[in-house]
Amino acid sequence: MIVVPGSASKTLAHRIAEISGIELANIVVKRFPDKECHVRINRDLTDEEVLLVQNAYPDENIVELFLLQDAIREFKIKKLTVLIPYFGYARQDKKFEEGEAISARAVAKRIQVDADEVMTVDIHNVRMFAWFNIPVMDISPAVQIGNYLKKFKVDVIIAPDDGALDKAKATAEAVGCEYDYLEKTRLNAEHVKMTPKAMHVSNKNIAIVDDIISTGGTIVTAAKCLKEQGAKKIYAACTHGLFVGNALERLNSACNGIFSTDTVENETSVVSVSESVKTLIV
Ligand code: R5P
Repeated sequence: MIVVPGSASKTLAHRIAEISGIELANIVVKRFPDKECHVRINRDLTDEEVLLVQNAYPDENIVELFLLQDAIREFKIKKLTVLIPYFGYARQDKKFEEGEAISARAVAKRIQVDADEVMTVDIHNVRMFAWFNIPVMDISPAVQIGNYLKKFKVDVIIAPDDGALDKAKATAEAVGCEYDYLEKTRLNAEHVKMTPKAMHVSNKNIAIVDDIISTGGTIVTAAKCLKEQGAKKIYAACTHGLFVGNALERLNSACNGIFSTDTVENETSVVSVSESVKTLIV
């Protein structure tokens, strides 16, 4: 197998190649003066199984992903597995209002045109796998995140909503602690109130876990509510740390620590998903 590193996922692709003892292909990605993307693979991939690693986020990396898939397909390869560590647009997996695009479906449709198999990491909702007509599997980093959280003496793992409850459960099992989720009540257009469903958090160390942190609004609101209920230390952990705008600044004032994986490499990336990928490819 040969790993092709897209420019949005270089570090992770290097880690996967290194720990799996797999060759990393040399590629060149450049931008023309009009900003159009141009890719070239400097390695003959004929007869190889190829693992392409590239985030489908933000938009320019989606175009690069499509071009890399096309460039790889130009060789007579045995199999193309596309690993999409962070699958952008996954949250728009239905029409919230009439006339909207189902963006996740649009991206999924195009990706599978030039792939034999797709791997994702902690996809927002596996419901979207119904749109794939090739094998697709999701990797969960919950155990690795739980193992990392052990050193912080966390008493309860909290999901910010019931959608993240399975994640909280799996993380709590790894930590060896309890878990719960927050019940969100909308007070008005701008404000929501969140309360733990069943558990007392007073004087406990809490870790809030979610798939994505984008603006940080969800975590900051959850942390505030847990503080009001007497929580001691509050940590936040996610798989995909997007941290748009001043999200990290706001999160650092609301929490005692922010952690994420290396699907979107940033200063909080303390957990690597490379080992989990290795177990699926070697
Ligand atoms: C929503 O369904 C997701 O699971 C996350 O909770 C959400 O994307 C977080 O976004 P933000 O950080 O902007 O609140």
